[in-house]
Amino acid sequence: MIPSRLRLGVNIDHVATIRNARGGDHPDPVRAAEIVAAVGGDGITAHLREDRRHIRDEDLARIQAATNLPLNLEMAATDEMVEIALRHMPHAACIVPERREERTTEGGLDAAGQHNRLAPIVARLTDAGIRVSLFIAPEPRQIEAAMRLGAQVVELHTGEYAHAEGEAQAAELRRLADMAALAAKNGIEPHAGHGLTFDNVQPIAAIPQLAELNIGHYLIGEAIFTGLDHAVRRMRELMDAAR
Ligand code: PXP
Repeated sequence: MIPSRLRLGVNIDHVATIRNARGGDHPDPVRAAEIVAAVGGDGITAHLREDRRHIRDEDLARIQAATNLPLNLEMAATDEMVEIALRHMPHAACIVPERREERTTEGGLDAAGQHNRLAPIVARLTDAGIRVSLFIAPEPRQIEAAMRLGAQVVELHTGEYAHAEGEAQAAELRRLADMAALAAKNGIEPHAGHGLTFDNVQPIAAIPQLAELNIGHYLIGEAIFTGLDHAVRRMRELMDAAR
């Protein structure tokens, strides 16, 4: 099934990064979530990292209470995070690889190599009614692994695409389009995200099978100059124009 409207999930982690730089409560990611809801964003994405460097446990409930938008909780595949997800019951849980020393989520989850570790985690979340998404590189073996794990969603990592140029970027785009088609053909809803900007979002948004993009760092950066409302609206316009 080809979704007609591409959803925009806004990752608000870096509002919390700025808040935490001074240890107080400003700027509040909840206020960002409210603005995203007011300007027609389709969801809030937040990554509760092991080191709590941006979003903290108490932010999750506050975000959920403040808006009706679905919360997509990005989380490492650990028992601690599963317990937190089960307590908060987000709309979706996106399982990401997490290394303490990385600046951001640098690569995709090795769903193919970690089947036995991931299977009970995917099952617990799914059984509780949480939609499970796996953040994977756009590779056939990772899609096949997601199928074996019974994930409802895969989020295709667009970082390589975002950092490449010229023919290398065109090749990455083809890979993403092929993997979105492969996922959809096999009943998995494909999403995409990482490193997307006003300049590079449109070829991704034009991939017909994609149902959702999750975008954070660039939007929060733009918000410094033009406001979050304007940044989200502009991203939405570009996505719609590409469809
Ligand atoms: N999707 C996932 C699974 C991520 O881990 C991230 C980064 O936290 C994003 C999307 C958003 O990436 P960016 O902040 O580069 O837009």
